[in-house]
Amino acid sequence: MFFHVKELQFEAKPDRPDPVYAKRLQELLGGKFGEMTVMMSYLFQGWNSRGPEKYRDMLLDIGTEEIAHVEMLSVMISRLLDKAPVKEQEDAAKIPVIGAALGGGNPSDVIFASMNPQHEIVNGQGADAKDSMGVPWSGAFATASGNLMADFRWNLMAESQGNLQVSRLYEMTEDQGIRKMLSFNLARDIMHQNQWQAAIEELQADGLHQFQVPSPFPFDRVNLEQAYTCWNCSTGTASQEGQWASGPTPDGNGEFVYLADPKPLSNDIGELDQADPRLHGTPKQPMPPMSSGPNPISGQDIPKNVKKSAVTSGGQM
Ligand SMILES: [Fe+2]
Repeated sequence: MFFHVKELQFEAKPDRPDPVYAKRLQELLGGKFGEMTVMMSYLFQGWNSRGPEKYRDMLLDIGTEEIAHVEMLSVMISRLLDKAPVKEQEDAAKIPVIGAALGGGNPSDVIFASMNPQHEIVNGQGADAKDSMGVPWSGAFATASGNLMADFRWNLMAESQGNLQVSRLYEMTEDQGIRKMLSFNLARDIMHQNQWQAAIEELQADGLHQFQVPSPFPFDRVNLEQAYTCWNCSTGTASQEGQWASGPTPDGNGEFVYLADPKPLSNDIGELDQADPRLHGTPKQPMPPMSSGPNPISGQDIPKNVKKSAVTSGGQM
């Protein structure tokens, strides 16, 4: 059961309307790494979790908090769309970062071009489940694999990407109300990065997973000769200068081996056999036409300039 508390987790009060910024802020709401993506990911990871209860509970704690972040951003976007006098926008366009991003020129022209018309037409001065370019949020952005190690790493990545975008949006406004809320978002996403890293370590401490995914998985089924080789697949050897190329591997089971001039491990050039002719792909050599099954229009007149070999029914399968 979910229970809605009327108060926002943190206030979402901009100093003044700013529909151009409202469009940008949609990225944090409905973008690939926005609040909707982490909300749905963590909730589904929690609902799908079959591991110890503490993980499920923590996932649903954070997933539920993310609902509150979606709510805060939606309210902020709606308030940024309030009234929205053009004068305010012209002032905003004078802020160097925004002005440069708007492309300069006549402020009122670029302002109208920079607003999201759907905020008015479709949403009636409200937020939408889309990113800053109007691309609809997709369930394909969410991740819930049933493997908590794989999921927690994904979560750490998503919080990193998402918070990077928060920091960029922070730089794009001088509105103190927006910055106040984004300061809170930055803090929570830093906390969540810490929680996912701690959870990754906890899975190992609990013996549920080792470093690698998949685990547990029998090591004797892994090609161990290639488990720790670093393939230099470009010119030069700059990639050798890192702890991913020499020394012990993070899983504690091996040593990195740098292959400065790697060679293929096979003679297989990937040549493929002929596909089923009924798929009508490109054959290796010229082939007669073929089809299978009955032809309900057989006996029709064929234009004289069509070669007989292109018509023959001898190729029927
Ligand atoms: Fe969040």
